[in-house]
Amino acid sequence: MHCVRKIADDLYWVGANDRHTTLFENIHPIPNGVSYNSYLLLDEKTVLFDCVDWSAAPQLVENVEYLLQGRELDYIVLHHLEPDHGAGLWAVLQKWPQAKLVSSLAAQRFLDQFGFAPMASETITAKEGEGLSFGKHAITFYAAPMVHWPDVMVSFLEPEGILFSADAFGTFGALNGRIFNDELDFPHHWLPEARRYYTNIVGKYGPQVQALLAKAEKLDVKMICPLHGPVWRTDLAWFLDKYDRWSRYEPEDRAVLVVYGSMYGGTEQAAEALAAALVERGVAVSLYDVSTTHVSQLVAESFRCSHIVLASVTYNMDFYPPMRDYLEDMKALGLKGRTFALLENGTWAPNAGKLMEAFVTGELGGTVLEEKVTMRSTLPGTQAEQLTALADALAASVKG
Ligand code: FEO
Repeated sequence: MHCVRKIADDLYWVGANDRHTTLFENIHPIPNGVSYNSYLLLDEKTVLFDCVDWSAAPQLVENVEYLLQGRELDYIVLHHLEPDHGAGLWAVLQKWPQAKLVSSLAAQRFLDQFGFAPMASETITAKEGEGLSFGKHAITFYAAPMVHWPDVMVSFLEPEGILFSADAFGTFGALNGRIFNDELDFPHHWLPEARRYYTNIVGKYGPQVQALLAKAEKLDVKMICPLHGPVWRTDLAWFLDKYDRWSRYEPEDRAVLVVYGSMYGGTEQAAEALAAALVERGVAVSLYDVSTTHVSQLVAESFRCSHIVLASVTYNMDFYPPMRDYLEDMKALGLKGRTFALLENGTWAPNAGKLMEAFVTGELGGTVLEEKVTMRSTLPGTQAEQLTALADALAASVKG
């Protein structure tokens, strides 16, 4: 059965939702699924903007076939060829082999490497500032390399002012019939997953996202059609501001993220006591067990919060391995500019604090509060002053 939604005059969403894949890129959990967005323009020429994952290709073909009603497909514009979009191209070209394929030069090379487009009748290389006219509508291409692959480009459809934004402005989550941002409660129910998507998939490429935002600023964008998640037709400035902050690595909230690594509960108890003391001081706090929280969630929260407490046991004279994995991920994604506070534990030789401090100052460009808690196995009441001092220092720093 076809499943399509009208986006604008002559333009339709023809993508598909995936609720079966458990790990996006075989790394990131997607408990709410994900959508692969494709769009079909029915003008004097017919144009398919992007394809879908291989698993969703039958749905895409059925949707396109339904709307074409026997017409030929003239163009396929591929803004990004990563297999969650490019793999479905093979099925589309089998059905409409005469379609002209439009993509960046880098995409053509990668398509060959993946073996996705052996049957394209003609390939057109999209170049910065150039475009194509389809009748009443025309598009202009803009390169967006490394947002987040080298092949990425976006295009601007006129006269409607629609930005086909590739992975930019995408979100985890299946659409469940709702296609526009104003058909769902994005700020409350979708923003955390949008942040987890951006920070983990695109987060490393902040400067490249800034370059794309600068190009978009010069266009009169009225609607954004990404490759994942809802189409934006209201509150564009609100979401653009999120992208601006994330790509500048600026925190969204003056808030404390507490991440603890605990083996037998002592460090966990101390982390909870610190969180409670912070809440008593009017500070917004979130707290996670580094061993049981997926690192993609920790990364997203680290982008959101201005302050991060690292509470770790000492393990083989290093800090806790899951804590190292988390910090290494933050380093790989380029997060910087956070204020850290440290709580270390060690039954016979607490050593985690000094090593975490070296990591966050050296690798993450962070600053570390002078106040620190050092504990041996558990935190006795006689050390309550240390915890109080750390909570006071954190509260003062958060409140500025
Ligand atoms: Fe949704 Fe980079 O592919």
